Amino acid sequence: MNIRLFKPSVGKEELKNINDAFERSWIGLGPNVNEFEKQWANFVGVKEAIGLNSATAALHIALKSFNFPKGKKVLVPSLTFASTATAILYCDLQPVFVDSDPNTLGMDLNDMKRKFDKDCVAVMPVHYAGHPIPMDELMPWARENGLKVIEDCAHTTGSLYKGKALGTWGDFGCYSFEEKKLMTTGDGGMIVSNNLELMKDIKAYRWVGIDKDNWKTAQAYTEVNKDAMHWFYEINLLGYKYNMNDLAAAIGLAQLKKLPKMNAKRSEIIKKYLDGIKNLSGIKPLVPYEVDKYVYQMFGIRAEKRDELMLYLKSKGIATGCHYTPLTLQPLFMPYAKDCNYIEKEANSFITLPLHADLTNEEVEYVIENLKSFN
Ligand SMILES: Cc1ncc(COP(=O)(O)O)c(C=O)c1O
Repeated sequence: MNIRLFKPSVGKEELKNINDAFERSWIGLGPNVNEFEKQWANFVGVKEAIGLNSATAALHIALKSFNFPKGKKVLVPSLTFASTATAILYCDLQPVFVDSDPNTLGMDLNDMKRKFDKDCVAVMPVHYAGHPIPMDELMPWARENGLKVIEDCAHTTGSLYKGKALGTWGDFGCYSFEEKKLMTTGDGGMIVSNNLELMKDIKAYRWVGIDKDNWKTAQAYTEVNKDAMHWFYEINLLGYKYNMNDLAAAIGLAQLKKLPKMNAKRSEIIKKYLDGIKNLSGIKPLVPYEVDKYVYQMFGIRAEKRDELMLYLKSKGIATGCHYTPLTLQPLFMPYAKDCNYIEKEANSFITLPLHADLTNEEVEYVIENLKSFN
């Protein structure tokens, strides 16, 4: 057997939508992106969503839009993918790395409060693996201290935490549709907010400073009226080429329909894993999975004999990973590293196991059997 770690679940529904885009012969920023934005905003329950080419882009322009003075500080977990912290460097700001909570592995809010100083301007909580950061505790503290809040939702599709969707607690929520995520557009991302004032420049940031609907503009090119300036646009800010395109959105629209089913399948698999490992010594679940409440992009374990177990699983054709090497151990970020001792040590026990919506029962059983036989 050869079992992949992650795999996008795509098929004829996505192909049909791509085919429709081909027939319309409009594959750039256009009506599919508009429709996907509308449906995503509806799905999450938020006032506005804007489609981008990645969550990296979303995190970058979310932070950029506040125009913080150069050199100010942003609180960010050490345990995250590079993009959460590269967004800070892109904006000429300084990351202040926060250690993890030993139970959830999310940002430790006590360490965050300890590391806060008057130069901090924002905080970027990451709902690691899909497990929520206690936003009901973080938000009042952030507001008291004048901090902007950008939620990294790359590992969630907006599960409800205390009745409110992840991604809608802070100023901005940033989602990823990269191919390993809960749903995919190949590569893609979405930025959302309930604050329309904050969203007003985001379209210009995503498309080199131009805030114009490409698709509507093209329709107006041949409208018979007295307007000879239908082509005109004004550039008022330094934007990026970060827009989503209609091919990605075509895939996204099909994936969004399948998402509840795919998420339910993931939860079912996680339950099987949890049951399978519950009596194994030296192995614990990565985070306190609560599959009836939240969706999880990753299933992982903490293993005492991490490397031996990884090699064993590899020999059985089972792909594994490690998410992540804490950023404070990465050469790029080392100059900013300070006291993330817990996660720097604990991450040596992490193993990510195969999890995707097309994983069969037989494959899940096979992984569990091999975890048992190693034990
Ligand atoms: C926590 C986290 N943040 C941000 C990103 C970046 O997402 P994207 O690949 O869509 O830019 C990822 C992707 O792996 C991620 O895991």
